[in-house]
Amino acid sequence: MENVKILGIAGSLRKASFNRAALRAAQGLVPDGVTLDTAEIGGLPLFNQDIETPPPAPVAALKEAIRSADAVLFCTAEYNYSIPGVLKNAIDWASRPHGQSAWAGKPVAVMSASPGLLGGARAQYHLRQCFVFLDMHPVNQPEVMITKAHEKFDEQGHLKDETAKKLVRLLLQNLADWTRRLAQGRP
Ligand code: FNR
Repeated sequence: MENVKILGIAGSLRKASFNRAALRAAQGLVPDGVTLDTAEIGGLPLFNQDIETPPPAPVAALKEAIRSADAVLFCTAEYNYSIPGVLKNAIDWASRPHGQSAWAGKPVAVMSASPGLLGGARAQYHLRQCFVFLDMHPVNQPEVMITKAHEKFDEQGHLKDETAKKLVRLLLQNLADWTRRLAQGRP
């Protein structure tokens, strides 16, 4: 696989979101041979199994974006020690109907940002638990948890912390390497 296409999804809808800003920063830090496009999840309806077939248009578009990507990068906020409902909603939609999940087999990496001292760590571990049922293949390291996020971005939302930038760069490189390794084993 020459070029690795990553799809980035932010687990926060707010405009000035640190996580959306971190995802934008990641777009500027991709290694050679890697592209990082993003998908929006704010337009999805609330999941309701009564309307899953045929999928609403925004769901079909999200599933198509996931399917055409080689790997996924989540950058999520932490709400009440877990992932925000908007992200879980998107995950649930794209996993349905049963047997037609768009996530299955995808390499995946996680980042999080929070003004708190743990940087969204607890949300990351909840998200990783979902990967088991989703049959996604997570990169384990580095763990990119941007702590004290209000100090790490400037007023325009640019990531200014060099350590965080280094970790994001390494995570992207590891995700690309992991994606290429997994692809080699596929028929
Ligand atoms: C939060 N916040 C928060 N932070 C944290 O580190 N652990 C937590 O459990 C929570 N819980 C929580 C619940 C709800 C409902 C809100 C709105 C916020 C604070 C949160 O990290 C902060 O608002 C971030 O700025 C959210 O991420 P974005 O939107 O900046 O990406």
